Amino acid sequence: MSKLVAGNWKMFGDKNMISEIKKIDQHCNEVRCEVAICPPFPLILSAYEQTKNIQIGAQNCHTDINGAHTGEVSAEMLTEVGAQLIIVGHSERRQDNYESNDIVKLKSEAVHRAGATAVVCIGETLKERETDKTLSVLQEQMLNSLPKNVNPLNTVVAYEPVWAIGTGLVPEIDQIRAAHSFIRGFLASTYGAEAHNVKILYGGSVKGSNAKEIFSISNVNGALVGGASLKSNDFIEIITAASNSI
Ligand code: 13P
Repeated sequence: MSKLVAGNWKMFGDKNMISEIKKIDQHCNEVRCEVAICPPFPLILSAYEQTKNIQIGAQNCHTDINGAHTGEVSAEMLTEVGAQLIIVGHSERRQDNYESNDIVKLKSEAVHRAGATAVVCIGETLKERETDKTLSVLQEQMLNSLPKNVNPLNTVVAYEPVWAIGTGLVPEIDQIRAAHSFIRGFLASTYGAEAHNVKILYGGSVKGSNAKEIFSISNVNGALVGGASLKSNDFIEIITAASNSI
């Protein structure tokens, strides 16, 4: 299956950085992978209007369509301005905003309701890894935060070990392989044969220098990239590695 390289800009980026998105879009005219950028909400519409080869996404949404929820944004509002995928359950939101698995599941279902792809993030903390709880944490997160109907079009799973995010630390190849294989097994046994084509992204300190090796691991179907997605040259190196890894 073709790989997906998605950039999560987090709370970075201003109007001037649309030019970086345009450079990435121009580069993606002829690549053999899918590419997405998830900028902060205020940039989604102009990013969407100024690109044609890449998808634009969002980093969060509310569970409801609309309502008296000051400061919130619904999945429908995001798809209306061009978001085709929406990240839910990122560890920064699970930590900073106390988002539980139950909330993440409702958000994933809201993304489906709006007709977009939910990029559902899971991953263990360092303490959980050191106490051999990685697979049980992943299982618990998948059981309780994945939406009801998962298929290759409506859902992407992103495995992001919390300790690898923004730290420059990357798990051993065997650790990534084991986590992705476990996730694939869970998806197949829960959602059936179709789930073999659900993309599983790796996220956490992906850079141009390690992307090729990460993309060669079985069941790694792409990457969710933070820091290295903010500069077009850095992100393009990762896109090139994905495009060449087919
Ligand atoms: P970094 O690539 O900066 O480690 O961030 C990963 C991430 O959190 C993507 O969602």
